[in-house]
Amino acid sequence: MTIVVLLSVLLFSACESSKSVDLLSPNGEIAFDLKVNENGQAFYKLQTNKNQIFSDSRLGMELREDSLFTDGLRIINVVRNEKNENWKPVWGPNDSILEKYNELIVSLKNHANNDLKLYVRLFDDGLGFRYEIPQQNGIDSINITKELTEFNFAKNGTAWSIPANFDSYEMLYRTTQLSEVPDANTPITVKMESGYYVSIHEANLTNYAGMTLKNTGSTNFQANLVPWPDGVKVKAKGSLLSPWRTVMLCKNAAGLVESNLIQNLNEPCAIPDTKWIQPMKYVGIWWGMHLGVETWTPGPKHGATTDNMKKYIDFAADNNIQAVLAEGWNTGWENWGKPKAFDQVTSYPDFDFDEIVSYAKSKGVELIGHHETGGDYIFYEESMDKAFSKLHDNGIRVVKTGYAGPIPNGQFHHGQKMVQHYRKVVETAAKYHLMVDAHEPIKATGISRTYPNMMTREGVRGMEWNGWSEGNPPEHHVILPFTRCLGGPIDYTPGTFDILYKNRKDYIKWNSNDKGNSRVNTTLAKQLALWVCLYSPLQMASDMISNYEDQPAFHFFVNLPADFEESKVLAAEIGDVYAVARRKASNWYIGAITDENAREIDLDLGFLDADKKYEATIYSDTDNTSLSDNPTEIKIFKKAVDSKTKLHVKMQNSGGQAIEIREAKG
Ligand code: NOJ
Ligand code: CA
Repeated sequence: MTIVVLLSVLLFSACESSKSVDLLSPNGEIAFDLKVNENGQAFYKLQTNKNQIFSDSRLGMELREDSLFTDGLRIINVVRNEKNENWKPVWGPNDSILEKYNELIVSLKNHANNDLKLYVRLFDDGLGFRYEIPQQNGIDSINITKELTEFNFAKNGTAWSIPANFDSYEMLYRTTQLSEVPDANTPITVKMESGYYVSIHEANLTNYAGMTLKNTGSTNFQANLVPWPDGVKVKAKGSLLSPWRTVMLCKNAAGLVESNLIQNLNEPCAIPDTKWIQPMKYVGIWWGMHLGVETWTPGPKHGATTDNMKKYIDFAADNNIQAVLAEGWNTGWENWGKPKAFDQVTSYPDFDFDEIVSYAKSKGVELIGHHETGGDYIFYEESMDKAFSKLHDNGIRVVKTGYAGPIPNGQFHHGQKMVQHYRKVVETAAKYHLMVDAHEPIKATGISRTYPNMMTREGVRGMEWNGWSEGNPPEHHVILPFTRCLGGPIDYTPGTFDILYKNRKDYIKWNSNDKGNSRVNTTLAKQLALWVCLYSPLQMASDMISNYEDQPAFHFFVNLPADFEESKVLAAEIGDVYAVARRKASNWYIGAITDENAREIDLDLGFLDADKKYEATIYSDTDNTSLSDNPTEIKIFKKAVDSKTKLHVKMQNSGGQAIEIREAKG
């Protein structure tokens, strides 16, 4: 049931204008203050009952047109609402989400009497605000040249950030003082000196440019939007609604992970029938290409052949894996880098599409279509209907997309044009009942609440970098849950078992990042744990299936559900350690991971049902497991546990532990 209460409407007469207005979170602990100074410039402040989080931070936007929303602003009307409601996502780490906030809708006018609206929502775990330029006389074209929004932290702290980049999110995190961050892509997460954890991001990025942050001095940051080729940031006709600018604000790092702020600031589901949307686990013809032992293009090492696909389909059928991906199935890979390179409907001669479709069907296995575009979104928009109907007509429900290459005509990957494109893909995919896994995507901002067929995305320096670079360092995985993953599900693609690439034969260096020193910088137990720690409703076991044959440790993935009903963070320090438990029916699955340091932690199993006895199957590093030369040694054992158990978990350097807990029989 929706409870939206109109609390009060304040109206000011034409000559009288209010200079300030404030709002408290539902629990009364967070306060937002808006004020307009003598020059008509708008500022907000954010504080908790004990601490100043942001000091005066500017609001507004600069338009190329005369009607600026920079100064000369006055508040003319304030509406207050509140909401307290649970909603059910189609999938996700939790099956019910509380949406509880207090809201302000502030109407402002500038000196030319143009209207600007500010929507502010305060939740118990943070803030969202957005701008609207409503339809009005005198404003036809809107060209935003600068968004003035600031986030001026009142105190310094430790920040985890990746550099601002208009084309890529595939970077390693920097751990620095906040004041030392020159610029950043969001989410950027900060542990303030006061102990509060703050993460800045955006929600519902629909028809606007992606936001990066730039340091304007000390701990002050301002929005820096990704431009169009002509320098304008955002273009609209008639009216405009910005994404929400979001500030998660929590007392501990676990609170960030457990926050639903981003999804809550998106619109409810727009797809009437969602029965066809279903989380899946998958394997695929993929890692061989990144390792340089198979190719996307035809030839003696072509990965996506009919025979190879059948092996993957058999493997999936035997191992409780719902779906199989094939990359390099369609013609055009030899033209990667050129315009209109990829034909999304014609398969290579050694990939018998029809035969594979009927074989998969006979085995009860789903296929995942793959559309690499090389970045040529224009050509993809032309081909999309044909390409999507080919998948749909053949009973295929998932498509992985990719944009590995420059965007045509001087556009950036994260600009408004591409934001529009990604939305068009998701909406068109919904028409064809296709779920989307987007690589080189626009950032995750919670739109899967509205379009739950937007399952997962990359937008991260993922597993693939281990194939052809120095690899991702051990701390990467214990930073991701508190940064990138706050936006939404991540197709990181964990699951390498051949960690030192001992089975990599006749390797061809294909990627210029490759200095010949690549490997996976974790233990095997940590790879298993990542399947739980890095939530994705399409979760991949990414190694070549030959590396999973006769591996008892693979049972963890076999038994792992594709989706969950409840999640609890058990240990959380950014960049150090992370442990999370996820429930499906009465079974629990735990992943615990550490950074470059070996670590021992105790997990409180108090979340188990107090009346029941359970059996845990534990996949653990051993005393001899060693990141440098013995990363794959793993110990698998069973242990009786119950709600009073404090489970002692010992992890080696860049190690981890994966645990399956089932109700004990008898
Ligand atoms: C980059 C994607 O992240 C990766 O998963 C894919 O294999 C290649 N592009 C080729 O499409
Ligand atoms: Ca990528």
